[in-house]
Formats: sequence, structure tokens, C-alpha cells
Amino acid sequence: MANRTDEVGLNLARLSPYFFFIFLLKILLFTKVCDIYNKIYMVRNINLTKARRAKNDEFYTQYKDIEAECQHYIQHFKNQWIYLPCDDENSNFWKYFVDHFKEYGLKRLTATHINLDGTSSYRLDYDGSETLKTALEGNGDFRSDECTKIKDECDMVITNPPFSLFREFIKWLE
Ligand SMILES: C[S@@+](CC[C@H](N)C(=O)[O-])C[C@H]1O[C@@H](n2cnc3c(N)ncnc32)[C@H](O)[C@@H]1O
Repeated sequence: MANRTDEVGLNLARLSPYFFFIFLLKILLFTKVCDIYNKIYMVRNINLTKARRAKNDEFYTQYKDIEAECQHYIQHFKNQWIYLPCDDENSNFWKYFVDHFKEYGLKRLTATHINLDGTSSYRLDYDGSETLKTALEGNGDFRSDECTKIKDECDMVITNPPFSLFREFIKWLE
């Protein structure tokens, strides 16, 4: 006849695979929950970072700062076709070069801007007397073929680019 210690030992021996299985299941479940949580957290973080970056891009250059900076390059503007790839008619770069078009002896001024909602954008062309507004096929992303074509054809690119795409912008200029 087995004594009490043997009985407990026997019962534990019988139960342990079951407990081990439940324990493993709990660990697997816990790992899965952590994994899902991590994924949700990461997606949320990526979206927040994207939103923060997009918001940081929306800083506009003041007219007086453009004026102060461009003073140093006036002699280089003569007979040049200037392209502003991140600017619409509200941009101070656009206003500044329209205001000084004749004084600087510019040849042509072109501006495009992105429509962040993805809808098609337009380009502005100024020849010293009138502004021509032409629809673009795409949303005006500077990386698009149509904006890259303008960049390749013009003499100078001037703008304050989106900070979040700064490296890409510099690469695009090369
Ligand atoms: C720092 S702000 C400067 C705006 C303007 N150039 C100025 O100086 O006032 C950069 C602008 O680039 C725009 N932008 C963001 N991504 C762009 C892209 N892929 N192509 C063209 N413009 C973009 C943003 O919407 C923003 O208006």
C-alpha cells in the first residue's frame, strides 16, 4: 500500500502534463496579445509621426526673410527661368518674384504646389505681364514626372521645401 507522500507524488505526476499544457497555452496567448498590442501601438505611432511631420511641413516663409536672403543673389537672377516647386499664388516666394520680375530681369517664373488630398493641382507661369494657370495631371508632388520635367528645363529652383522630405528634395535637385 502506497503512503500519503507517494499518492501526492503520483497525482502530481499525472496532472503535470495537463498543467504544463495550460501553462504553455497561457504563455502563447500572452505573447499573442502582446504582439497585437505592439502592432496597434506601432501603427498608431507611425500615423502620429506622419501627422506630426506633415504638420511641421506647413510653415511658410515670410516675405521679409525672402527679401533679406535674395539680396545676396540678385546678380544671378538676370535672364533666368525660376521654378518654385512647393509654392502657389499665396506663397511669399511667388509674390516676391512677381514683384521683382522686371527689376531682376527674370525670363520666366513658374510655381507648382502639392494638393495633399491627392486631387490634381495646377502650375502658374508668369512672364512679366500675366499669370497663366494650367492644370497638372497629378497632385503637384515635386517628385512627379511633370514637376521633374519643369525642374530639368528651368534655370533655377528656389523654395523652402517640406522638412520631412528634405533629403529627398536635395536628391531630386541633383
Ligand atoms: C516648409 S513649407 C514652405 C511652403 C512655401 N514654399 C513657403 O516657403 O512659404 C513646405 C511646403 O511643401 C509642401 N509639400 C509637402 N510635400 C510636398 C511634395 N511632395 N511636393 C511638393 N510640395 C510638398 C507642403 O504642403 C508645404 O506647403
